[in-house]
Amino acid sequence: MIKIAPSILSADFSRLGEEIAKVGSCGADMVHVDVMDGHFVPNITMGPLVVKALKKITKLPIDVHLMITDPEKYIRPFAEAGSDIISFHAEAVKDPMAVINEIKKYGKVPALAVNPDSDIPWTAGLTEHIGMVLFMTVFPGFEGQKFMPQVLPKIKKFKEEIDKKGLKIDIEVDGGINEKTAANVIEAGANVLVAGSAIFYSKDYKASIESIRNAKKQAV
Ligand code: DX5
Ligand code: ZN
Repeated sequence: MIKIAPSILSADFSRLGEEIAKVGSCGADMVHVDVMDGHFVPNITMGPLVVKALKKITKLPIDVHLMITDPEKYIRPFAEAGSDIISFHAEAVKDPMAVINEIKKYGKVPALAVNPDSDIPWTAGLTEHIGMVLFMTVFPGFEGQKFMPQVLPKIKKFKEEIDKKGLKIDIEVDGGINEKTAANVIEAGANVLVAGSAIFYSKDYKASIESIRNAKKQAV
């Protein structure tokens, strides 16, 4: 089953509560929160306060994507604010296992995020300990960028590896996902699709969520 995670980075922040209620009633499976610190990526967005506010108004799982340096310092505040899944970039840490353990300490699902140009050997030995991998299909930092099809073979290879090991790990993709690009990532093995601009800039949230979920293969 394909899950859709609208990224609130593209939502109207002056009406955030309404936007969350709307994607919830239009079939979203979780809420994706993009946290940027101006160091790991050249943009600054939101922190635990926003997660805490969202937690009060939605029952959907909150999927926090940390694009920050030193993520280990911020696991506790994000966990206590009500995050359900916490992704961090392995490129941002020296000891990914320590961060995974910190996330688990608070009973949250640990996830590893991978930049488009990062290879995945560093996931070796970690896959048994995580609940999800997040493959970036744009360079992190901004919404509305163009999907990078060159990431597809990496997703496929990872899916084959976890299937061989019999591991049940969610494969999330993030960046440039729309009704045209979605089928390609689904075919490669992804089952959690993040979409920001494709949902929040559309006139009909329900139609865009369903067209991403049920996307048919097209050339990208
Ligand atoms: C990029 C973020 C994404 C982004 C998605 O750094 O991690 O979640 O906001 O936006 P779209 O779907 O517009 O590419
Ligand atoms: Zn994201």
